[in-house]
Amino acid sequence: MAVRLGDIVPDFTAESTQGPIRFHEWIGNNWVIFFSHPKDFTPVCTTELGAVAKLKDKFAQKGVKVVALSVDSVDDHKKWIKDINETQSCVVDYPIIGDPERKVANLYDMIHPNAIDNLTIRSVFVIGPDKKLKLTLTYPASTGRNFDELFRVVESLQLTAKYSVATPANWKPGQDCIISPSVKDEDVPGKFPKGHKVIKPYLRTTPQPNL
Ligand code: BEZ
Repeated sequence: MAVRLGDIVPDFTAESTQGPIRFHEWIGNNWVIFFSHPKDFTPVCTTELGAVAKLKDKFAQKGVKVVALSVDSVDDHKKWIKDINETQSCVVDYPIIGDPERKVANLYDMIHPNAIDNLTIRSVFVIGPDKKLKLTLTYPASTGRNFDELFRVVESLQLTAKYSVATPANWKPGQDCIISPSVKDEDVPGKFPKGHKVIKPYLRTTPQPNL
């Protein structure tokens, strides 16, 4: 059964390039980006894992840990990391889970046989410190993901978890936010002292509250 938004994500123990991982314990009090890729020693995956390595410190500054997975072995991952580091000019020092028996892949519904037979697709799970699923994405093997976009999404998720706001289409940090419909008009000035605009009764905006 697929993991859905708001679900507590399945816990598991698995081997990784950084040693064994007990997933819930490893998440701790962090946000997590857990992403799968189809196969080691493949071109798009090589660029993706390199892109994540380059963003790892930026994610860490926001309290976000990253972890990858494919149905290859940890030994293969370790050999492949050398190629990723060489070709993408990076240091992959985040864990890549080995899942040759497809235990975690099946738990997270990462194998879609009508897309690619018996290999993990490009799944992304953004998980909150409460271990609940906040976002999921599914990409085909032929399209590499935009990890800058995932960073933007995490910034929105962290902001909207703390304040009664939502972020509009194509929002970037620093831009105005939408006041949640659940906030009553009379409560708006007290909750949003930086000011607000009423564009329609259901579309009210305010400067980003935490800046
Ligand atoms: C790739 O990463 O380039 C790839 C992986 C599996 C199937 C097709 C492409």
